[in-house]
Amino acid sequence: MKKIVVAIDGFSSCGKSTIAKQLAKEFGYIYVDTGAMYRAVSLFCLQKGWLTASGKVDEEALKQQISNIDIAFKTNAEGVQETYLNGKNVEKEIRTLEVANGASIISTIGFVRKELVRQQQLMGQQKGIVMDGRDIGTVVFPTAELKIFVTAQPEVRAHRRHKELEEKGISESFDAVLANVKERDERDQTRKESPLRQASDALLLDNSNLNKEQQMEIVRQWFLERTQI
Ligand code: DC
Repeated sequence: MKKIVVAIDGFSSCGKSTIAKQLAKEFGYIYVDTGAMYRAVSLFCLQKGWLTASGKVDEEALKQQISNIDIAFKTNAEGVQETYLNGKNVEKEIRTLEVANGASIISTIGFVRKELVRQQQLMGQQKGIVMDGRDIGTVVFPTAELKIFVTAQPEVRAHRRHKELEEKGISESFDAVLANVKERDERDQTRKESPLRQASDALLLDNSNLNKEQQMEIVRQWFLERTQI
């Protein structure tokens, strides 16, 4: 079976990571959650006081330290991948709305994107990788053999994210989650640096009315078509 790069892009909370993790598991591929990398940089800035609640970033300080921010992924005893920031497990901390908002802000900064894209391209050199994000098919791996652009209605995505946060013990109102989803959509699509858009050769997957198994059937088929040639 041919080893390929799978690029999964799309709006926030549309299930990209569920698809990417499942596909990687089924076919023994490496899974990389690039959103977690932007979230880790956001957390780092919040901890240092370089990112304020009003969204102001101390870009000078961040630029000086960007090469000292070490982001890694490790699989825990239950087989779940977790994010590490400078050697510390930050998986739970990076999932809060505060960190998500910060990630949406710092991901508009050119030098941050440049550094994270460089690291992502290194991770994918050997292929056999499923990477999810916003710019994987357009910027990180423009020659990826399989590109998928995932979307779903904002209300459907907010319901999913709300449930996910509840399960993690993070309490937020549904309205706050919906507002956050819409705000991030707007920022992801209108930013100057690598705005979220569907690559011309990406396959569109609208999963508003699909359950997890139905969407996996579609994705598995696309994957097999590209690896069995
Ligand atoms: O997918 P996520 O919600 O974990 O992503 C967090 C933020 O990072 C989101 O606002 C968009 C940004 N991001 C990005 O700009 N490029 C990527 N490749 C991945 C995420």
